[in-house]
Amino acid sequence: MPEAQGTALCRADEIADGAARGFAIGPRRLRIFVARRGGALYAYVNRCPHVGTPLDWAPDEFFDRERRHLVCATHGALFRVEDGECIAGPCQGDRLEPFPIAVRDGVVVAFDELAADFE
Ligand code: FES
Repeated sequence: MPEAQGTALCRADEIADGAARGFAIGPRRLRIFVARRGGALYAYVNRCPHVGTPLDWAPDEFFDRERRHLVCATHGALFRVEDGECIAGPCQGDRLEPFPIAVRDGVVVAFDELAADFE
């Protein structure tokens, strides 16, 4: 099996601590987002485990007001950035689905070849 190449999304330093960016990848435009907590980046499918709606309440707005947790715009569920677990709200205990990314030479790369596995 050939090694996954991925597609460049943005520079890693374009995502500030406590911020996130949304992207649509692959032939069917799967919605994902990349969030930063300190030095680490985390990527998830942009789909709430409660009823499946996108999380962002405005373009690229995935965090709560305190910039501590990810928040779902539909019913306000809160998710830990580090592992996507819902810690408060109607889907408590469920998790966001992580999406594989890497940082190469300062650029965030998503393995969009795998997008179909998440649709
Ligand atoms: S759809 Fe996200 S909390 Fe209900």
